[in-house]
Amino acid sequence: MKHFINLKDIPAKDLRRILIDAKKRKNVRKNLNNLDPDKGTPLKGKLLIQMFEKSSLRTRLSFFLAISQLSGRTLTLRPDELHLSKGGESIEDTAKILSNFGDAFMLRTDNDEKLEEFKKHLTIPIINGLSPSSHPTQILSDVFTVEEIKKKPISKLNITWIGDSNNVLNSLIAASIKFSFKLKVGCPKKYQPNKSMMNYIKKNKNKITIYNDPKKAVEGADVIFSDKVISMNDKVNKKRKLRDFKNFKISKNLMKKCPRAIFLHCLPRGSEVDENVFKSKQSKVWQQALNRVHVQKSILLYCFGKLR
Ligand code: CP
Ligand code: NVA
Repeated sequence: MKHFINLKDIPAKDLRRILIDAKKRKNVRKNLNNLDPDKGTPLKGKLLIQMFEKSSLRTRLSFFLAISQLSGRTLTLRPDELHLSKGGESIEDTAKILSNFGDAFMLRTDNDEKLEEFKKHLTIPIINGLSPSSHPTQILSDVFTVEEIKKKPISKLNITWIGDSNNVLNSLIAASIKFSFKLKVGCPKKYQPNKSMMNYIKKNKNKITIYNDPKKAVEGADVIFSDKVISMNDKVNKKRKLRDFKNFKISKNLMKKCPRAIFLHCLPRGSEVDENVFKSKQSKVWQQALNRVHVQKSILLYCFGKLR
């Protein structure tokens, strides 16, 4: 049994094994319906319990399809209906029940410590479906999308992030270390990755360059990543933050500076990208979103110790 909480803590060779499995599984599903099972019904009889303490569209749907295609089932709990969220039951006791009734637990939370506390008490795998510090299932899936479209290992590509230093960027930084790719980050000086991320980058002697000029950050890029300037529950002066990011909008003009680049965005989007970029040929956001299903299937199999 394995947990999937943060890319930093997962060996690079395991992350690569997940991507290889996802590619094989995706290739053989071309003519199947969404709910048709994969051959071998690998997770038959298994129950994935999901809980979202913050909004979600893609993660919810993609985990539903992922476990369904592996012949397992999912049950989504509403946090406001549990004793836990009202303080009437401990994480320890909740975890005991989840472990006795289910086979894996996927949690989207606003509290990284909660993931660790659940991990301590669960006897089933826990998957991080987004936390304040990371979004690992998203980024592993995005590595898959980049390699699928560019038909090259990501280590041979130039990756650029334009946007806030948030959970998604933290996971992208962790991926750049695990998969050894060059990463440029374009953001206003005030919004650079925090000290602990900078120390992590330094400790791993990684090649991450930070630019406060978006035009410099996109030079030579094969992939431009972005995300909302204001993340869920971001406790900031929203107007001011949006103003601070005004020059970091992904426009047609900016994309012209990196003509071979594809544009990726985890979604939902805000004002950080122009409509004509979002809907352009360079944008691969819908393919990116759908790949969550394929990669999360292999993440589930990894957690269950059933990766081929
Ligand atoms: N990208 C992503 O995680 O989307 P949701 O918030 O809709 O799940
Ligand atoms: N950074 C965003 C990602 C949403 C999928 C957020 O945390 O709101």
